Amino acid sequence: MVTSTIRSGVRAGSGDARHWYLRPADARSAVTCSDDQAGPISDGTTPPAADTRLRLSSLRNSVKFVLGQGDVLFADAAARGDVLRYDFAGGPGSTVIISNPAHIKSIMTADPAIAPSATRQSPLRPIVGPDSVLTSIGARHRQQRTLLMPRFHGHAVEDYRTEIDRATARRIDSWPVGETVALAELAQHLTLDVIMSAVFGLPDGTPRTDAERDLHRAIIRVLRLSTHSIATVAQLTNGFSENPVGITKLVLRPVDRAIAAVLAERRADPSSTSRTDIAALLLSARTEDDKPLSDSEIRDELLTLVVAGHETTANTVAWTFERLTRNPEVYHDARDAARADDTDYLEALLNESMRTRPVVPLVARELLKPWQFGAEQTPSGITALVSILLLHHHDDLYERPFAFDPTRFLGVRPAAHTLMPFGGGNRRCLGATLAMAELRTVVTEILRRVDLVTHDRPAERPRHRNVTMIPIRGGLVQARAVR
Ligand code: HEM
Repeated sequence: MVTSTIRSGVRAGSGDARHWYLRPADARSAVTCSDDQAGPISDGTTPPAADTRLRLSSLRNSVKFVLGQGDVLFADAAARGDVLRYDFAGGPGSTVIISNPAHIKSIMTADPAIAPSATRQSPLRPIVGPDSVLTSIGARHRQQRTLLMPRFHGHAVEDYRTEIDRATARRIDSWPVGETVALAELAQHLTLDVIMSAVFGLPDGTPRTDAERDLHRAIIRVLRLSTHSIATVAQLTNGFSENPVGITKLVLRPVDRAIAAVLAERRADPSSTSRTDIAALLLSARTEDDKPLSDSEIRDELLTLVVAGHETTANTVAWTFERLTRNPEVYHDARDAARADDTDYLEALLNESMRTRPVVPLVARELLKPWQFGAEQTPSGITALVSILLLHHHDDLYERPFAFDPTRFLGVRPAAHTLMPFGGGNRRCLGATLAMAELRTVVTEILRRVDLVTHDRPAERPRHRNVTMIPIRGGLVQARAVR
């Protein structure tokens, strides 16, 4: 069946900068919503597989996409419309990239059995393994979400608030005044404290036992390496292999050993039964046939939460100040809002930051049925990528899409499937409530207590690493004063 909703778009004039992130505030994206009909086709039609509009079949072009996907997507969507077909060499193969809310809705609200998450192709899979909530599908995925969800609901997140407050104060108090620093790096220390406390129950993120110390060191090493340019090489050499190879395998070995040692220590300690951290939850969990989870299942789950919860939040903080320091009037208003405790403005600021610089710019689903996207029909077996970046810059959804203007969200509840920094459907980010709690505290405290300036470049270039889009210099800033 093909479901349909109606909205037709008018093609606008394109912005004039070559790189999307350098376009002036009043430029248009020239990306608009086309024909809205969308949904699985079940009338027996089998669209031709070879119907690709654009072939990125040479390795050179695939690499170009990995490194500069924003520029490729904005250019192609302006020229060809909001349904793009690609054929990637060595990658997910036949792919459709969509950004029309009606098209997105059709896959996010479809039965996950016909539009499951494309976890097999996730560049995170070799790192976090096949058994985590991020990489499993079907019944197993449902069970894992049901098990973990209570630790990520509003109430549970309240339990983490003290840790968030303490980590924020600690990191701001030691902020180096007058030195140029990458905000992502500072924020990563902070988000690591919070996540290590939530996941492994390390108070203040600080290890107490030898096994915890080894774990902390191994995780910092793997996360540090993942922020190094070698990470891109690792991603490319690992290609789309489901298991870790080369550098990835080498780097993960000590982490695996350290997690196993901490789990053994917790199992042997009778006082562990009173722990409320996520590792304890998984150690005591039983499968439907009343078996405990294996060490490798628990490892995959724990590493997923650390990896997914650390870099995303830290880089959202970095992007927020990258944008604020380039928009002094907005920075001024945001500082006033933080000092006046104007939570509506601060919420709008976070929305605008994640709209203009979504740290996860693409989410993927496998389509196991032929599908209709506007005038385009795709065959069964294709990968659908939702471009959150393009969605957030449609001219007909956001006036002046390249402007950084939090007021667009004041008193406005974004329409469904128009603002999706946390993805959607049954795979929506498990840590969204925790991430928002961290962002509110960290951004507000930085605004209140630190005056930041930046070098005079117009904007930091986005860099694509694994599934994230991060500021290439980590959001360089200098503190003029810390209160
Ligand atoms: C600003 C910070 C964050 C952003 C922008 C973000 C964004 C996302 C996105 C876009 C997805 C994919 C959703 C989809 O496929 O539709 C996702 C999934 C996920 N995120 Fe986050 N995330 C953030 C923070 C966190 C935190 C703090 C945690 C946990 C500690 C976390 C854990 C997860 C997990 C476990 C998944 C997989 C969910 C599933 O497949 O069922 N994330 N996130």
